[in-house]
Amino acid sequence: MFGRISFVVVAIIGILIALQQQFKPIPEPRDYVRGKNNTVLFLVNEHPGLSNVHAATAQSLLESHPDIQVHFGSFPKLANTMTRISSYAKRNNSQAKEIIFHPLSGLSSSDAYDNYPHLRYDEDGRLGHISPHGIEGINHISKNIQIYIDPWFQEEHLAHFKQITSLIDGVDPAVVVLDTNFAPAIEATRARKRVHAFITPNMLVDNFPGEQPWLGFLWKYPAMGSGFPFPIPLKLMAQNIYQNFRLISSVAKMPDISAKQEFLKANGVPDPIKFYGLHRDDVPWITQTTHAATVPVDFVPANVTCAGPMTLSAAPAEDQDAELMAWIKQKPTVLINLGSAFHYSRTHTRIMIEGIQKILEATDLQILWKYMLADTLDDDWRSWMVPLEETGRVTVTPWLTVDPFSLLSSGHITAFVTHGGASGFHESIAAGVPQIVLPLWTDTYNYAQLAEQIGVGIWGCRETSPDWTPECLRDDVVKVASGPDGMAFTAKAKEISAAAREQGVGRDTSAGIIAKLARGGRE
Ligand SMILES: *[C@@H]1O[C@H](CO)[C@@H](O)[C@H](O)[C@H]1NC(C)=O
Ligand SMILES: *[C@@H]1O[C@H](CO)[C@@H](O)[C@H](O)[C@H]1NC(C)=O
Ligand SMILES: *[C@@H]1O[C@H](CO)[C@@H](O)[C@H](O)[C@H]1NC(C)=O
Repeated sequence: MFGRISFVVVAIIGILIALQQQFKPIPEPRDYVRGKNNTVLFLVNEHPGLSNVHAATAQSLLESHPDIQVHFGSFPKLANTMTRISSYAKRNNSQAKEIIFHPLSGLSSSDAYDNYPHLRYDEDGRLGHISPHGIEGINHISKNIQIYIDPWFQEEHLAHFKQITSLIDGVDPAVVVLDTNFAPAIEATRARKRVHAFITPNMLVDNFPGEQPWLGFLWKYPAMGSGFPFPIPLKLMAQNIYQNFRLISSVAKMPDISAKQEFLKANGVPDPIKFYGLHRDDVPWITQTTHAATVPVDFVPANVTCAGPMTLSAAPAEDQDAELMAWIKQKPTVLINLGSAFHYSRTHTRIMIEGIQKILEATDLQILWKYMLADTLDDDWRSWMVPLEETGRVTVTPWLTVDPFSLLSSGHITAFVTHGGASGFHESIAAGVPQIVLPLWTDTYNYAQLAEQIGVGIWGCRETSPDWTPECLRDDVVKVASGPDGMAFTAKAKEISAAAREQGVGRDTSAGIIAKLARGGRE
């Protein structure tokens, strides 16, 4: 079914970079191979939380740089998105070419997590990735760190390396655009010495904690999964340092990763699973970092661009689903969408249904709920939703028929209940919609805290995270989506979205950088 999770890796990369910075060698000048002029190849996982920034950049390339041929190598689930982008781009610009999609075989990073039964669903349908913040969360990460760093079995990893190497050779692009969570693609690109760039949904503080002066990642910036505020208050500093040490000690010894590296090296992968060399000064790195909505860092490495939100919105919401938009326009509507990685357990479902009932009693709001039951359960969940849907004020749908960002920016969504993934966070920021963040794992706690700190929302059900109660769901949604508090949250969200717009249109900035590299190919 849908992709699972690929969240932790980003933060772990940050820690690994931190460890390696001390020993960073002087970079040797590199000669990159220049492929066919005006050709771009994206190599990404299909999970929307990871690939939306790439898809948005591709859309802008089609519309604003129609001389460039865009190729996309990803897993088959992304094919639809590519078709949609191509057809809408043609409406924007009749010169726009179509994206050439190259479906990859095998498992994407998120599907590869299913290789490990303890990370799958339990009998209640609760996903094994869900973990609390603080020390208990660190324990979860430490136990699974080798899986989060590289989820593929060694043969799967090698097969990806090989198929991607032939794809690169076949397309011969002037530039390869990479996803930081797709190690075999990074390895193939670098083994072939191709000109490349990274695009990431994450903020600088997620990617470059280790580059900050005075070991700032230890004491100055919130540790991964801590949910601590920035700057770290004195009374939490010792805890922050301790949590970092726990993380570091878990990456210090990784026998499974070492064995996998040996296997891959023996099979012709030159530099396998070497995450710490990810950023290079001569390789553009494009992030969604939005100055008005981030934890500011002291040091920004060379060639890093803060593009602001890179949102995917193929067409106006009305064009995507007129019927749904007609319903939404009736009343102020709250969108509940905890991301495509999260499927509900029976308990989560029951609590959310009760929470929604309480919201309906307390307000005049409507609710659009993107809901999927854990795919290991075959309960008749539709019947559970009947009492909600009979009110006419709730729409439950397993798939959103409209891009989340198109919904958010339609002007009819009053508040967004999200899990605090980097993608949803930035979409909400760009659209100026306040958020109720219900964090579920690792990096999402820091986004929950950030949303609260900059005043665009709250960390929902904070006392019980990652679990909820019907009462806290009601209280927090009512607070952000109605009354004088709601108006204050909306005003702040709009103010920050205006500031974000001054940074430029993220996907256009990103496309400009990629287009320049694409035009540097050979005849
Ligand atoms: C066409 O695409 C460009 C670049 O993405 C964008 O700035 C512009 O608003 C689009 N125009 C329409 C009519 O969609
Ligand atoms: C940034 O990357 C581009 C493309 O590789 C390169 O031409 C440029 O010299 C790099 N800038 C720095 C400061 O290294
Ligand atoms: C590549 O294409 C660009 C225009 O898109 C052109 O300016 C450049 O000269 C071309 N390079 C070569 C080597 O043909």
